[in-house]
Amino acid sequence: MTNIKLSVTAKIPSAKSGTVIVLGVTGSGEKVALLPHKVDTNSLNSLDLVALGASSKFESLIRVPAENGAVFALIGAGKDELDEDSLRELAASAVRKLDGFKEIVFDLPTEDERDAVCILEGALLGGYKYASKEKAPKSKLAAIVALSDQTVAKQAIERSRILATSVDRVRDLVNTPPNLLFPQSFAEIVTKESKDFDVSVTVLDEKALKAGKFGGILAVGQGSTRPPRLVKVEYTPKKAKQHLALVGKGITFDTGGISIKPAASMVGMKYDMTGAATVYQAILAIAALKLPVKVTSYLCLAENMPSGSATRPNDVIQIRNGKTVEVLNTDAEGRLVLADGLSAASELNPDLIIDVATLTGAARVALGDRYSAVMGTADAVSAIEAAAFDSGELVWHMPLPAEMRARLDTDVADIANAKIGSTAGGMLLAGVFLREFVGSNKPGAKAQPWAHLDIAGTANNDAAPYGYTPKGATGVVLRTLVSVAEGMSR
Ligand code: BES
Ligand code: ZN
Ligand code: ZN
Repeated sequence: MTNIKLSVTAKIPSAKSGTVIVLGVTGSGEKVALLPHKVDTNSLNSLDLVALGASSKFESLIRVPAENGAVFALIGAGKDELDEDSLRELAASAVRKLDGFKEIVFDLPTEDERDAVCILEGALLGGYKYASKEKAPKSKLAAIVALSDQTVAKQAIERSRILATSVDRVRDLVNTPPNLLFPQSFAEIVTKESKDFDVSVTVLDEKALKAGKFGGILAVGQGSTRPPRLVKVEYTPKKAKQHLALVGKGITFDTGGISIKPAASMVGMKYDMTGAATVYQAILAIAALKLPVKVTSYLCLAENMPSGSATRPNDVIQIRNGKTVEVLNTDAEGRLVLADGLSAASELNPDLIIDVATLTGAARVALGDRYSAVMGTADAVSAIEAAAFDSGELVWHMPLPAEMRARLDTDVADIANAKIGSTAGGMLLAGVFLREFVGSNKPGAKAQPWAHLDIAGTANNDAAPYGYTPKGATGVVLRTLVSVAEGMSR
C-alpha cells in the first residue's frame, strides 16, 4: 500500500483500460440516481441502471463498461448524507471489491478538503491483505485519485499514507501466527524496523526485568520456554510541549496459563498482543509525522503458558511499584503485565498515560465488537473521545466504580488480580485493578491523567469485512492515539 500514488485533482482523467471510476448511487427502489460527479456519464443515460443491479444500498457495487476500456463502478451511497467516515468506508469497500485495477478514480461529492483526504485514507485502509511469506498477494493498484475541486495540502495526503501504513503494520503483526511471533521475535522486529524512524529502543530481557523488579511481566512469562520482554520505545523531538506515555498489553499467546482456557476460547488468542502492536505502531506514526510531542511506548511482552514453571493460582508476586498481588486466576494475566508497564510509565510523570489492551471477554459482552471501551480520569477520557470522533473510530465511556475495589481484597497481598466466582462488571473490575498502578505511591503526589482502552471486542473481526475493517486484525484505535498526540502538539 505504501507505494501507491495518491492524488486529489479537479482534472478529469482520460479513460483507459485498467482504470475504474467510482460513482455514488442514491435514491430508492425503482428510482436511482447518480450522486453529483465530474466525469462525463452520458453513456449511462441509455441504460436501465436498476435492471443492471444498481442500488443505493450502502456498499453494494456494480460495474458498467465505460469508454476506451475503462469501467464505471456504481456504488450504493446509502440514504444519509455522506459524512467523513462514510466516505472512508465507501472508498474502502470499493477498493476491496475492485481488485485487479491499476487505477481507481473516486468521483464522489466532497464538501471540503477533509472529505477528499478521507476518500484516500479509506481507500488505503480498505486495500489491506495479510502478506504471509508463502502467498504474498500482489495488488496491481498503482494509483488512487480523488476527483475534487478542493485544494488539499500534500501534508494531509501524506498523513493518510502514514496512518494507513501503520494500521496495516498492526494488522500484519497481529495476524502473524503465534509460533512465529513471540516476545523475543517481537522485540527483534521492533529493534530492526525502528532504525528507519527517529526513535530509540531499549529491550529489557529476563535478567534486566528481574533487576528492574518487573514482577508482573516475569510472573506471566515464567511458564513459557520463550522468555518475556519489556520494550521501551522513545520519541523525543526537540520542541516537545507535552509528554504522552503509551502502554500496550503484548501477550503473544494467551492459553490462560494454569487456569487454562477451554479449547474453543483459546483459538484466536494470538490477538492478545494487539495493544502492544498498536502503541508500537502509533509511536512510529507520530515520529513519521514529526509531531512536537514526546512519546514513550512500553510494550509488555510475554507468552502465557501452563507448565511446571508457570505461576500458580494463590502465588503472590510484586509489581514494579512495590505493590503485591495475589494471582487468583492466571488467565487474568493482562492486568499483571500492564501493572508493571503503568508503574514504569508513571515514574516518568507524563502529561497523559494511555494503555491499550485486549483485556477482558467482558468488554465484548458489554459493548459488542464495534465499540472500544474507554475508562479513566475525566480529562483523559474526554481527550480520547474527541480524538476518536475525529478519526471516525467508535469508543464508549465506561465507569470505574470505586466500591468495586473491595472485591479484590485479599489477606495475603495488597490486591488480588480477579474475583473468583463472579463475572459481574468484569471489564470495570479490570480497570479498577489497573488504577492501583497508575501514578505515584507517594503521599501527596499529584493525580496522573490516565485512560484505559479495552479493545478485546474490537481488535479482531471474525465476520466478513465491512467498510475499512478487514476480516481478522482490525488495527483499531491507532488513528485515535495519533489524533490524541496531535492534540497534545497544539
Ligand atoms: N485475553 C483475555 C481477554 C479476551 C477474551 C480477549 C476474549 C479477547 C477475547 C484475558 O487475558 C482474559 O482471559 N481475561 C479473563 C479475565 C478473568 C479471568 C477475570 C476473561 O475475560 O475471562
Ligand atoms: Zn487471559
Ligand atoms: Zn489475555
